[in-house]
Amino acid sequence: MLVLEDVNVYYGAIHALKGISLEVNQGEIVTLIGSNGAGKSTSLKTISGLLRPKDGKVMFKGADLASIAPQTIVAQGISQVPEGRRVFANMTVIENLELGAYLRKDKSGIKEDMKRVYELFPRLLERKNQLSGTLSGGEQQMLAMGRALMSKPQLLLLDEPSMGLAPILVKQIFSIIKEINASGTTILLVEQNAHMALSIANRAYVLETGKIVLSGDAKQLAASEEVRKAYLGG
Ligand SMILES: Nc1ncnc2c1ncn2[C@@H]1O[C@H](COP(=O)(O)OP(=O)(O)OP(=O)(O)O)[C@@H](O)[C@H]1O
Ligand SMILES: [Mg+2]
Repeated sequence: MLVLEDVNVYYGAIHALKGISLEVNQGEIVTLIGSNGAGKSTSLKTISGLLRPKDGKVMFKGADLASIAPQTIVAQGISQVPEGRRVFANMTVIENLELGAYLRKDKSGIKEDMKRVYELFPRLLERKNQLSGTLSGGEQQMLAMGRALMSKPQLLLLDEPSMGLAPILVKQIFSIIKEINASGTTILLVEQNAHMALSIANRAYVLETGKIVLSGDAKQLAASEEVRKAYLGG
């Protein structure tokens, strides 16, 4: 479904992605793990078109995304939940969700998806008229995920959904990610919480200073000495 081939991304003189190649197959949960500054967010922004590679290819369902505008990439089926949530603080929960569907015209489909988001996140239904800036961190994460789902993505990009959340909420968010995947959405998950990410993913890539240093089956990686030492605290 998604293929990155030898992608190089720069911020001015900073070489942030150094020849990244990876694949996400339809139906999978793939996780990209790595420490601060490894290039995880840069990778997601490059897929969603917010950053452009200097060279290399980003292909989605066989088409090159190089010259496609970010909103067109959303319309083609890729939606990103950015790091740090970034909900619109002065808008209500409903208004944020409606914005997620702004490229769609199928009113009945939008209504159905809104219902589905409220089923996944009952808390959002309780808070639907509340200003988003007054939601708790966990609720804002739910809203950011709900908003991304409102564009009906085939591929959902999640940038550190567990960041700053209490352990019980982390568990809940990860179980909802599994549920979203089970209902047909392919997922590329970026995480510093390698333990949780590897526990729900099919496959994983390990990123270190802009390079992929390890990849493979998530369970096998979780069991490998290298990953345990570097990312799982022994
Ligand atoms: N706008 C920018 N301008 C210059 N350098 C940047 C910019 N954004 C990111 N970088 C650099 O690119 C590298 C990769 O950053 P990126 O945000 O992708 O890391 P990350 O893996 O998401 O880290 P974290 O886990 O802390 O979110 C870092 O060295 C960072 O300093
Ligand atoms: Mg990041």
